[in-house]
Amino acid sequence: MSDFAERLIHWQKQHGRHDLPWQQTRDAYRIWLSEIMLQQTQVSTVIPYYLRFLERFPDIVTLAATRQQEVLAYWAGLGYYARARNLHRCAQEIVARHAGRFPETAAQINELPGIGRSTAAAISAFAFGQRQAILDGNVKRVLTRCFGIEGFPGKASVERELWALAETLLPANDIETYTQGIMDLGASICTRGQPRCSACPMQGMCVARQEGRQGSLPTARPRKPVPERISVVSIFTDGHHVLLERRPQTGIWGGLLALPEGTPEMLASAWGLPSGSTVALPELQHSFTHFRLTLRPQLCRIAHAPTCCEGSLEWLPLATIGQAALPAPIRKLLTSPALAAPDT
Ligand code: ADE
Repeated sequence: MSDFAERLIHWQKQHGRHDLPWQQTRDAYRIWLSEIMLQQTQVSTVIPYYLRFLERFPDIVTLAATRQQEVLAYWAGLGYYARARNLHRCAQEIVARHAGRFPETAAQINELPGIGRSTAAAISAFAFGQRQAILDGNVKRVLTRCFGIEGFPGKASVERELWALAETLLPANDIETYTQGIMDLGASICTRGQPRCSACPMQGMCVARQEGRQGSLPTARPRKPVPERISVVSIFTDGHHVLLERRPQTGIWGGLLALPEGTPEMLASAWGLPSGSTVALPELQHSFTHFRLTLRPQLCRIAHAPTCCEGSLEWLPLATIGQAALPAPIRKLLTSPALAAPDT
């Protein structure tokens, strides 16, 4: 066994996490759900969402049979909503093509919608004990530092080198402990900002540690300015309801309810809405992976919300904002004090 794997397994048994809600099971459905939620999201944020989700959708058949809107409602606030849409499609595909049983090999799992090579490997290791290497952002950081590998890890040639290395390091046994160990090491010791090298099982062999290069490994992404998008959105409200529009399937908030884009004047004339007095609310910024969004909200108070409206529009009672499937920045805007009814 590699020196790396031996140290890691020993460390994981003594210091790693053992009590996370997805660790005491071999149920592929639960493990899959946890791995999808944990992509780009911290353990502490994931746990309550994970528990609520499982309570409502205890198995893959239940998930597959539910409407997408309701699945999204249980994801609202976690971000990266393509994960939820893919999860739902995946459940339907597993029911249709695999008779509801999760496939066991990393190669088969990798073919499902939205499941990349590393996530497929993690699921196959945790649920089926398959000896597969993972390579997510945390693992890339551990390996580039420990073995002194230069170059931006998102670059194809560097990534290929890292996959090959990850595979040579695998132990013959204990793949679950090893896999959880490398994740936990990256999350708790070999962190991006201030790694805790004195507590690290690799301190005697780590190139970055020996050469004081923890700050420059992994090599940063070559800089490109992040594009900025500005979106004027309208908040039509009668003090009790707010007008929302369901977004098309593609795009950042696909399938979720969000504020309609455009000025109140434009939208009122396009949709035959009553017009009212308009005020601009403070801008709100939100960062996505590939761009930064600035929301410019225009509040338009009207006397009464019409009772019906066009297909993608919905008058949502303000009292239900807390439970609705809304992207986090929209929820934040709608719970701002500026929206309270003037007479309350
Ligand atoms: N990040 C991705 N998968 C994880 C897991 N199984 N445990 C903790 N963090 C993770």
